[in-house]
Amino acid sequence: MLTLLIAVLEALVCTLSSAPGVWAQIQGSVFVDCGSVARYVDSITNISWVPDAPDYITTGVNGYVPSASSIYANFSEFTTVRYFPDTRAKNCYSFPVMPNSTYLIRGTFFYGNYDNSTTLPSFQMAIDGTIVANVTFDNAAIFVYYEFMVASVSNVTFLCLLRDSSNSVPFISAISFSFLRAADFFGSAISYFLKSV
Ligand SMILES: *[C@@H]1O[C@H](CO)[C@@H](O)[C@H](O)[C@H]1NC(C)=O
Ligand SMILES: *[C@@H]1O[C@H](CO)[C@@H](O)[C@H](O)[C@H]1NC(C)=O
Ligand SMILES: *[C@@H]1O[C@H](CO)[C@@H](O)[C@H](O)[C@H]1NC(C)=O
Ligand SMILES: *[C@@H]1O[C@H](CO)[C@@H](O)[C@H](O)[C@H]1NC(C)=O
Ligand SMILES: *[C@@H]1O[C@H](CO)[C@@H](O)[C@H](O)[C@H]1NC(C)=O
Ligand SMILES: *[C@@H]1O[C@H](CO)[C@@H](O)[C@H](O)[C@H]1NC(C)=O
Repeated sequence: MLTLLIAVLEALVCTLSSAPGVWAQIQGSVFVDCGSVARYVDSITNISWVPDAPDYITTGVNGYVPSASSIYANFSEFTTVRYFPDTRAKNCYSFPVMPNSTYLIRGTFFYGNYDNSTTLPSFQMAIDGTIVANVTFDNAAIFVYYEFMVASVSNVTFLCLLRDSSNSVPFISAISFSFLRAADFFGSAISYFLKSV
């Protein structure tokens, strides 16, 4: 039932997002540093980060977060964000996946007052047309992440950011996307864990 619902919503989402480039279906893990302009290997964590545009998204603006290097010196992925000042209903990342497989998807958000605003933003995150998280911050200097196990229903999975009633500008620092297993082990259920540090 949920799978069907997601499939229908996904079809709607599909028409809203522009087609990114050609990529291979994700079979291992992909670490996306949103707003970054080049791929690099983090010398502390040894993680290979890739930029988000143009492979996974074609909308939004690259932003710089000056406070990241002092607050989280060991998290290179926090020094940039992609933010979405346009007022379209949603902005979506597209990830090539194998159908009927299970993936672990994490969206990470470090605000760091990158826009010099006097208020903390809030917005929503959706996966394949289902709103899975209200992204909120207790503090500009603390990052949050939202992690989900998702059963893919087609060959593409969408991670989208939507404005909420606050009308703040959505942004995102990093996305990790990991293949877990080929079989649809978790059925159509989307499970998620909220973590903040
Ligand atoms: C980092 O990754 C490279 C290539 O996979 C590996 O050779 C090296 O040992 C790793 N270094 C650390 C500190 O994990
Ligand atoms: C940052 O990484 C360095 C080198 O691995 C380590 O010595 C240090 O404890 C880390 N700092 C924090 C705050 O985790
Ligand atoms: C995915 O699973 C559904 C339901 O079991 C099945 O109808 C469909 O053919 C499968 N698709 C692929 C590509 O295996
Ligand atoms: C935020 O304020 C600093 C210090 O005034 C300034 O250098 C920076 O350009 C501002 N950033 C934005 C996005 O307005
Ligand atoms: C997001 O917040 C709205 C309004 O408070 C609430 O109805 C909804 O259940 C929340 N969604 C999630 C995924 O937490
Ligand atoms: C996904 O499937 C559609 C329809 O079956 C196909 O046109 C498209 O080329 C596929 N995309 C990828 C990245 O495999």
